[in-house]
Amino acid sequence: MKPSANSDTQQPSTTPSVNLPYFDFLLTLLKDGNDAVTKSFGKHVHWGYWENPTTATLSTEDFALATENLSQQVCSAGHITHGLQVLDVGCGFGGTVAHINDRFIRMDLVGLNLDERQLERARATVTAHPQNTLSFHQGNACALPFPDNSFDVVLAVECIFHFPDRHRFFQEAYRVLKPGGYLALSDFVSSTTLYPLTKVTHNPWSFYGGCNLQFRHSDYQHLAQDTHFSLEIANNITLNTLPTYRYLRRLGQQHKVTRKSAIIETLIVELLSRLNLLRYYIYGFKKA
Ligand SMILES: C[S@@+](CC[C@H](N)C(=O)[O-])C[C@H]1O[C@@H](n2cnc3c(N)ncnc32)[C@H](O)[C@@H]1O
Repeated sequence: MKPSANSDTQQPSTTPSVNLPYFDFLLTLLKDGNDAVTKSFGKHVHWGYWENPTTATLSTEDFALATENLSQQVCSAGHITHGLQVLDVGCGFGGTVAHINDRFIRMDLVGLNLDERQLERARATVTAHPQNTLSFHQGNACALPFPDNSFDVVLAVECIFHFPDRHRFFQEAYRVLKPGGYLALSDFVSSTTLYPLTKVTHNPWSFYGGCNLQFRHSDYQHLAQDTHFSLEIANNITLNTLPTYRYLRRLGQQHKVTRKSAIIETLIVELLSRLNLLRYYIYGFKKA
């Protein structure tokens, strides 16, 4: 799938720049050849999924497997199978594209990201299976540079909270999906109790950049209705992600990560998750 040259949604001159200090930090460590960081976040940059969290060993290999498992969960919600055109929005270093490329054939895989530095790494590390095609493009999730009805599945793994507007992204996903296509994503979802406090999380200067956590499960139900999707899957997998926090703490201690903002913000997210105030969901939507 090539970006549409004449699409009126393609607006390179107005593409917002990305300000995500955690990616600047990661890119520096990756450039320095940090082995543990390369194995943990050189492919996927998202939380892990443990089917049984009590068996988590928290080795680097255990975490790498858990990150593959999270991609697997989102792919299942998107009904990924052989022979599909798939768009992965906010694709990071191309981990989910690589995950699909390794397991399915006759795929046309497209990754989209705002950050050209991440795309460079994706292009350098992910090679198409002989029976697949894949490409990575720079662009904004809220102004997708692709024609209408061009994908079977749109994915957005752990990135929608960074997008300028969830509603606009859903409209764009709907536009580029073929009839009967699927949108699948993972997101942090606020409880009703936490919701009034989440305004303060939209802080563009934080380690994790601008994160809009002001969205509840009921908001997803309304968003689906407003944008003509049917909500098919809503899995609260918070418990399956909790070992990630212990892993991050250990990784930080081993590598002497002393950034206060990274330590404090991760602890806050862990605490809110353990108190069931912030939940991690996998969603699957269908374009009627
Ligand atoms: C937590 S990372 C997840 C990366 C990838 N999905 C993964 O699972 O490894 C969030 C990603 O969203 C991307 N992103 C943020 N805002 C975006 C936007 N408006 N359009 C496209 N990508 C965006 C960031 O550059 C980053 O790659």
